[in-house]
Amino acid sequence: MQQFPFFYQESNTSTEALFCEDLDISEITNVFGTPLFVYSKQRILDNINAFKNAADNTGHPWKISYALKANSNIELLRIISAQDVGASIVSGGELRAALTAGFQPEQITFDGPGKTDAEIDLALRTKIKAIVVESSQELEVVHSQAIALGIVAPVYIRINPHVDAKTHPYISTGLLENKFGIDIDQVLDLIKTFHSPWLNIIGLHTHIGSQITTITPFVEAAESIKHLVLKLKQEASVDIKYLDLGGGRGIQYHNIITHPNIPFENSTNDALIPTHEEFLSSIANVFNGMDIELTVEPGRAIIADTAILVSKVLYTKSNTKRTFVIVDAAMNDLIRPSLYGAYHQIVPVSIVANPEIHLASVVGPICETGDFLALDRELPIINRSDLVAVMCVGAYGFSLSSNYNLRPKAAEVLIDGSKVRIIRKRQTIEDILL
Ligand code: LLP
Repeated sequence: MQQFPFFYQESNTSTEALFCEDLDISEITNVFGTPLFVYSKQRILDNINAFKNAADNTGHPWKISYALKANSNIELLRIISAQDVGASIVSGGELRAALTAGFQPEQITFDGPGKTDAEIDLALRTKIKAIVVESSQELEVVHSQAIALGIVAPVYIRINPHVDAKTHPYISTGLLENKFGIDIDQVLDLIKTFHSPWLNIIGLHTHIGSQITTITPFVEAAESIKHLVLKLKQEASVDIKYLDLGGGRGIQYHNIITHPNIPFENSTNDALIPTHEEFLSSIANVFNGMDIELTVEPGRAIIADTAILVSKVLYTKSNTKRTFVIVDAAMNDLIRPSLYGAYHQIVPVSIVANPEIHLASVVGPICETGDFLALDRELPIINRSDLVAVMCVGAYGFSLSSNYNLRPKAAEVLIDGSKVRIIRKRQTIEDILL
């Protein structure tokens, strides 16, 4: 793996400045403005290669299928599709994006608990690898549409394995109180009652949650699914050829970038995060000796640390309780802190010598108390007009952004060595209003 693409280096202005690959971030924002998502092409390639190499080292044939929901910028998708990975989609829009970006239909699987009839029709006509069915009613719809089109539907059944992923409740998906999948205890009966030449039930799928930082829940889910595979074979003569174990691999969000003048961040979780190889081989071991193709659908682990969100300080103010740094990025640009209490490291774009460190809350201009990027964070003193970078925003950053408070969406740029290009124009008010 190459050097991490975001780092501090002496700049033209003689202080140390944040760079992405060969370019000075402050010079980039002079051209493209703020708030600005800045992506490193090198990091995307490195992350995919790291996953592939780890998969190869497990000795089991793994397929890697990128979850588009993490980031569906079409230019980024083009880079990803060229690396010979699959695409995991959840809507007709994502299907269109995947095909436009160069993914082949036979590399695409369609997840999600609420596909519309039109989306199922499109998926069948496009001849994607599999529709991941999440309820018996959905299976009926797929069945009747397959008959109507005269196409045999390739189907995976998404299993709800009753496994607690021990992550934020909003992104935990493997428990019976969650809306996802079919209860593992109902699957055998369902498949027995649905014998039809129009349904080709070739795979099982599960996804137990996101930002999972230990291996245990993945292995627990894999064990349950293995038992189901064996039961389906023995009791229903169904041969499962494909197992898709979803996404969810957690990543580090603290100390993404370190420098002597930036406070070190305490985190208990980061030290526990397994390597890709530990993660993949623990799952592969469960299926040892079985002739089954294994897939993972990472989103965050591929794209999160490839980007930063650069924002300009509008104002600072203090009262007896708190110091606020009000920046021009807000919860409409990055909702993760507001929605999940998620942690993103925030660093100054320019390093000053011997900085005074204080506790500050970095907040946006939106009229909600929940509009914050960081609360009571140890930071070097930051002044009006300074730039800050929010780290690790490539996954569920732009893709979850909105126009709340009628704020136009931020621009996105891609750095490739010493080249920069815009990969999404900054929205204008006219784009939103008209
Ligand atoms: N496969 C399925 C079926 C999924 O639902 C997801 C994510 C993934 C794969 C990719 O998971 P990943 O590897 O990225 O964890 N907005 C939240 C995360 C929501 C995840 C939704 N499903 C966040 O910002 O943390």
